[in-house]
Amino acid sequence: MLVETQARGAVRIGGLAKRFGATTVLDGVDLDIAAGEFVTILGPSGCGKSTLLRIVAGLEVESAGSVAIDGAPMKGLAPNARDIAMVFQSYALYPHLTVAENIAVPLRMRRLTPVQRLLGLAPRAVRESIAVDVQSVAAMLRIEGLLARKPAQLSGGQKQRVALARAMVRRPRVFLMDEPLSNLDAELRVHMRAEIAQLHRQLGATFLYVTHDQVEAMTMSDRVAVILGGRLQQVATPDALYRDPDTLAVAQFVGTPRINVLPGERLGLPAAQVAVRPERLRVHALGPSGSSHRLPPSRPSFPSPVCGGGGAVFRDGGGVTHDLVCAPPPSATTPTPPPRAGEGGPGTGKSPAIDGRLVHRENLGSDLFLHVDVPGVPALLIARADPAAGEGVSIGDTLSLTIDPRHALLFDANGRRIRP
Ligand SMILES: Nc1ncnc2c1ncn2[C@@H]1O[C@H](COP(=O)(O)OP(=O)(O)OP(=O)(O)O)[C@@H](O)[C@H]1O
Ligand SMILES: [Mg+2]
Repeated sequence: MLVETQARGAVRIGGLAKRFGATTVLDGVDLDIAAGEFVTILGPSGCGKSTLLRIVAGLEVESAGSVAIDGAPMKGLAPNARDIAMVFQSYALYPHLTVAENIAVPLRMRRLTPVQRLLGLAPRAVRESIAVDVQSVAAMLRIEGLLARKPAQLSGGQKQRVALARAMVRRPRVFLMDEPLSNLDAELRVHMRAEIAQLHRQLGATFLYVTHDQVEAMTMSDRVAVILGGRLQQVATPDALYRDPDTLAVAQFVGTPRINVLPGERLGLPAAQVAVRPERLRVHALGPSGSSHRLPPSRPSFPSPVCGGGGAVFRDGGGVTHDLVCAPPPSATTPTPPPRAGEGGPGTGKSPAIDGRLVHRENLGSDLFLHVDVPGVPALLIARADPAAGEGVSIGDTLSLTIDPRHALLFDANGRRIRP
């Protein structure tokens, strides 16, 4: 029976540091993972993700700090004494063994003596118990039909499933996965994301997953730990990370398309930098006679916890704004910006309009992303709009963008979040 009945595998990482010579790769990482939780370490290439995972696995020795699993310190324990299983990007299957034999390897190591393995003399009861467990895990991953094949006769996705099966068959309390999907094509990655999330729910074991792909992190995990330059930046649910980031670096790392960043003074806001998600930029197309019409967003925005004073605003697909909590933003953090002709002004809660030129339209069918070049702003601003509403807007048109300060994220000169 492979389904766990009791959650186990709480991992506590404390003050973990790793240096290779003079290079510090990990610097004081603290991370508590609850038993049965799915936590993803997310960060760009070279930030120390694999190093962190390898230390938890016992494949690398920490320079400082500690790792404990279910309260037991792991210091000095060999990988096979830690009750963990690791799945790598490279599937690392034995090419000369069948799928069934590959999956059985960890069980043979555990249930047979070295002499029995060497002479191929497994007692019948052990042989049968191994076959039952291999069948059971193969059924779970729907690879029963592949058990007699060799790895060379499998697709990439099938190999990855076999690697997962081999990890699962031992029923470890912690699964460590290092970019296990990065060798798969885009469609299969999406499929395997759903499958891994489902396996996690079925097994009830702890998953510690490493990726540089924020979509993978956001779609599978209970919590995401963002690591940049060897330091943990923020650990939060995918939703909180997206809507309530602690730093500008995290805000920019999470979300597709990337969050828009503008200089604070441009908007009359008391922040060095103001960041606003594409779905939060309001877009107005300017008509020839100076008239302006709003392009509605492509779908309802979620109530946001980031607006000032605990207020939340819900804007429906028709562009109608509903105040849910109805608290005005405190004036200290979201002052009324200086009005500009026809826009902003006391009581409107809007910052001044910013005009820019449409340089690129990305129509994804469900969403239309408008890339707008605004003089004095280094990166193009990206706004999300309803594709139908954006039909009449062409490259070269002038668009007017407004930001509701309640939906903007403010950051100081060091990139730290300024909260209401
Ligand atoms: N054995 C080693 N000796 C020296 N430097 C190393 C060693 N292993 C890793 N590093 C360095 O440590 C840093 C972090 O490496 P790590 O493999 O943990 O990064 P990563 O976040 O997993 O990157 P990627 O996403 O590319 O896999 C890198 O700069 C790497 O060059
Ligand atoms: Mg790596």
